[in-house]
Amino acid sequence: MAKSEVKTSLLDNMIGVGDSVLLEPLTEDTFLENLKKRFDHCEIYTYIGDVVISVNPYRPLPIYTPAKVEEYRNRNFYELSPHIYALADEAYRSLRDQDKDQCILITGESGAGKTEASKLVMSYVAAVCGKGTEVNQVKEQLLQSNPVLEAFGNAKTVRNDNSSRFGKYMDIEFDFKGDPLGGVISNYLLEKSRVVKQPRGERNFHIFYQLLSGGSDDLLKQLKLERDFNHYNYLGQESAEVNGIDDAANFRTVKNAMQIVGFMDDEAESVLAVVAAVLKLGNIEFKPESRVNGMDESRIQDKNGLKEICELLGQDQAVLERAFSFRTVEAKQEKVSTTLNVAQAYYARDALAKNLYNRLFTWLVNRINGSIKAQTKVRKKVMGVLDIYGFEIFENNSFEQFIINYCNEKLQQIFIELTLKEEQEEYIKEGIEWTHIEYFNNAIICELIENNTNGILAMLDEECLRPGTVSDETFLEKLNQVCAVHERFESRMSKSSRFLNDTSLPHNCFRIQHYAGKVMYHVAGFVDKNNDLLYRDLSQAMWKTNHSLVKSLFPEGNPAKMSLKRPPTAGSQFRASVATLMKNLLTKNPNYIRCIKPNDQKAPLIFSEALVRHQINYLGLMENVYVRRAGYAFKQPYDPCLERYKMLCSQTWPHWRHGARDGVEVLLTELRIPSEEFSYGRSKIFIRNPRTLFKLEDQRKHRLEYLATLIQKIYRGWKCRTNFLLMKKSQIIISAWTKRYFQQKKYLRLKMVTLRIQSYIRGWKARKLLRELKHQKRCVESVTTIAAYWRGTQVRREYRKFFRANAGRKIYEFTIQRIMQKYFLDLRNKLPPLSPTERSWPVRPYLFLDGTHTQLRRIFHLWRCKKYRDQFTDQKRTTYEEKLEASELFKDKKALYTNSVQQPFQGDYLEISKNPKYQKLNGAVEEKILLADVVNKINRANGKGTPRIFLLTKSNFIIADQKSGQIKSNIPVMDITSVSVSKQTDGLFAVHLKEGSTAASKGDFLFTSDRLIEIITKLYRIIFSKTNQKIAVEINNEFLVQFNQDKVCVKFIQGAQKNGNLPACKRKNNRLLEVTVP
Ligand SMILES: Nc1ncnc2c1ncn2[C@@H]1O[C@H](COP(=O)(O)OP(=O)(O)O)[C@@H](O)[C@H]1O
Ligand SMILES: [Mg+2]
Repeated sequence: MAKSEVKTSLLDNMIGVGDSVLLEPLTEDTFLENLKKRFDHCEIYTYIGDVVISVNPYRPLPIYTPAKVEEYRNRNFYELSPHIYALADEAYRSLRDQDKDQCILITGESGAGKTEASKLVMSYVAAVCGKGTEVNQVKEQLLQSNPVLEAFGNAKTVRNDNSSRFGKYMDIEFDFKGDPLGGVISNYLLEKSRVVKQPRGERNFHIFYQLLSGGSDDLLKQLKLERDFNHYNYLGQESAEVNGIDDAANFRTVKNAMQIVGFMDDEAESVLAVVAAVLKLGNIEFKPESRVNGMDESRIQDKNGLKEICELLGQDQAVLERAFSFRTVEAKQEKVSTTLNVAQAYYARDALAKNLYNRLFTWLVNRINGSIKAQTKVRKKVMGVLDIYGFEIFENNSFEQFIINYCNEKLQQIFIELTLKEEQEEYIKEGIEWTHIEYFNNAIICELIENNTNGILAMLDEECLRPGTVSDETFLEKLNQVCAVHERFESRMSKSSRFLNDTSLPHNCFRIQHYAGKVMYHVAGFVDKNNDLLYRDLSQAMWKTNHSLVKSLFPEGNPAKMSLKRPPTAGSQFRASVATLMKNLLTKNPNYIRCIKPNDQKAPLIFSEALVRHQINYLGLMENVYVRRAGYAFKQPYDPCLERYKMLCSQTWPHWRHGARDGVEVLLTELRIPSEEFSYGRSKIFIRNPRTLFKLEDQRKHRLEYLATLIQKIYRGWKCRTNFLLMKKSQIIISAWTKRYFQQKKYLRLKMVTLRIQSYIRGWKARKLLRELKHQKRCVESVTTIAAYWRGTQVRREYRKFFRANAGRKIYEFTIQRIMQKYFLDLRNKLPPLSPTERSWPVRPYLFLDGTHTQLRRIFHLWRCKKYRDQFTDQKRTTYEEKLEASELFKDKKALYTNSVQQPFQGDYLEISKNPKYQKLNGAVEEKILLADVVNKINRANGKGTPRIFLLTKSNFIIADQKSGQIKSNIPVMDITSVSVSKQTDGLFAVHLKEGSTAASKGDFLFTSDRLIEIITKLYRIIFSKTNQKIAVEINNEFLVQFNQDKVCVKFIQGAQKNGNLPACKRKNNRLLEVTVP
């Protein structure tokens, strides 16, 4: 492929070649030269296909600005010049858009820039993924976990001032939108031996220096520390200060980061207390002391230091002191305590320090995980970032380097598996023409280390578990036996040695030819470090503390949970966790960053060709380029490929009914992609050049936009149409109803009008008919009348001769007779009721009956009165007669009369015969009493009234005292000549007596009574029946009475009444009595 053909920005203004695959000619020299040229021009990133090679610049470069982030965001991998951001973007996008879990594998030697690269990837992803308060908090916590872990897990080594002394794998979790949800950090084997001892030129973990430089005076005092590195045995003296590292500033950063990640203040304090305790543990010294029984014993020199440690850890001093002096071994359920000599005591001290620190570190990782773990249970997409310690070759390599390098071998394995071996195998499997490319497969080295039966780790474990005396030397011996024939293993065997002549190899060492070079390991410490033993007395002592954090770090110290089983060795633990990690990585889509270290001086601008060439070799980069160049940039099974690109071809879109492979063929043919650009495998399509893929992707993107618009268009059309149809339907319904309504109204009006016209016409017709009929009838009648008259005339003319004389009278009489007959019969039927008060009478039918009719009415009335009277009893008759008499006497003459009409005349008002009060009176009167009542007798002298009983019999009237019933006067009615009353409504009456009679000695009587009418009527009738003479009843407003010898005038005058209806009488003088009436 000639360079001139490619016109993308990858090559525009390119220094050297951005993608090594394009190198021409391709040799190791040109490859190296290209890297150097680019390095010299600050281009530290170079591609091999999709693998990023990063050369550590050892100086800050202006290529990580936010502007750069924006530049690389959402761009194709090859579109811009090589950058770690391009890889991060690619990984993030395929995670978000294609739902593929990703892992970013960063490999390289110690100091090659792995940790920096991992941070760059994380910060890029954080910058481009979603935003929002919650998301930002998650991001911030994920990013801030780094400074904390680096302070506790990184240290200055000869290779790297900030070397990670633990392996770290971090899963960042995203939701379906690509927003970060949280993360999980796994840590691998912290190099804890560094806590107690550091190689020359190296430092302990950063946190110790940071605490001493950055902690406030108060804090140091509280932690019982001194601000002096030299004071502490555990801090390597010579290189305590490092150029370019500001421990104090870093301490502030760490404290701040801890806060952001979510550490409580007391948690942070506890952590620092443990750090201080570890530091102070190093200053505890032991001195030997011999016992009588010959046993060596040790004793703590400076108890004060121990006391302070115990205070920091909340520990009982005696307990810890005892744990440093004794060791309890349990054998066959029997506890045996042995004393520790000075060396053992130091061993115990260091073991405690290492364990304390190591467990604190694990606790920190778990604590951070607790803060950053995703809160939701939804399905997550995962991006794993692996930053594990790089390949290490030191002067003195021990167990840690062995483990670290083993891990790197495994990573190289993955790389080989996925990029070199698998890819080549796949070409062959898929039937693609392929010339095999040789590469070194390091599986054999992995086997040497991890094989279950005769691997070095297995041997070490076996040695550790073996009863009897075990030492590093016996372990080496064992190795010599088992691995003697292994081509990658070398040692100076004592017996039949293959390498006996190799004097460069000391006796206590073995050498492994790692993929990255030969490394010589000193066996010293292998067994111990693998055993990772902490005396049980110590762990139990630590568990007894009341410092909750420390207590939780030593769960095995709990006697209740004590187990006799040995814990797994450090080696096997590591092997297991590496195996899990590898399995995890294999499930994800790998993205490689291969870091290269340009020089050993950690200096900028120096490019040591030899050093880089070596790395190119062992990293297998050349093989990588060859495979890439010969191979295909992209492969994909036919189904997903067709699914992804089928919209680019009219035949495959939207449905392809045949095989996927045929579909892809049709697709590629139609797209006119040159045939050398792709090959058809058995199950996959192979695309040679990434640019072809990007072309496809671009076309797809445009097409998708078009399709989205199309779908939108159709959907909108559909929506509008549906809406329109709905409106149309509604409109039709509405108009139908409206039309119906108007038509109905119109119809009803028409109907009404029609009916009216109809009725008029019918009426007119009917009237016409009626007129005709009436006319006809009148005609008939007229004819009949005329005929009748005519006949009558004729008959009369004919019979005149016979009726000449009496005929007229006879006819008249007959007619009258008939009329009378009819009249009487009618009258009989119409007779009015028999009540005498009834006034109605049938109407008179003929005028000539006028007299008769009136007479008949009178007769009828008399008759019915008679009939009415005939029903009366004697008493009733008398009563009526009295009433009649009263009417004749007073009607229209005295005003009081009208009131009396309604009152029945009872006569005996006092019930004189029944009432025992009047028994005597009753006895005195012989005749039947016709009237008994109380009246007022008017005193003749003064006109005052006195109540008196007034009795009337057939011949007398009697005045009696009302109370005693004694008779005052008894006057025969014969002596009464007349009575006088006024015309008014008053009840005053005068009884005039015959002159000269005995009764008249005092003169006439004056009475008042409401029953005046009844009394006078009865008196009148009694006198009439006795004498057959009618007495005079004078009705006048002035009359004379005879009092003794005087004639007095009683005069009625109108005036206001005082006592009800009773008239007030007043004797004015001899001649006048005035009566005031209302
Ligand atoms: N991209 C880079 N830009 C500038 N300096 C870098 C870069 N990568 C690494 N370094 C420098 O190299 C040092 C070692 O890098 P580091 O990532 O810690 O190495 P490793 O993790 O591989 O051991 C860093 O402390 C930093 O000074
Ligand atoms: Mg690192």
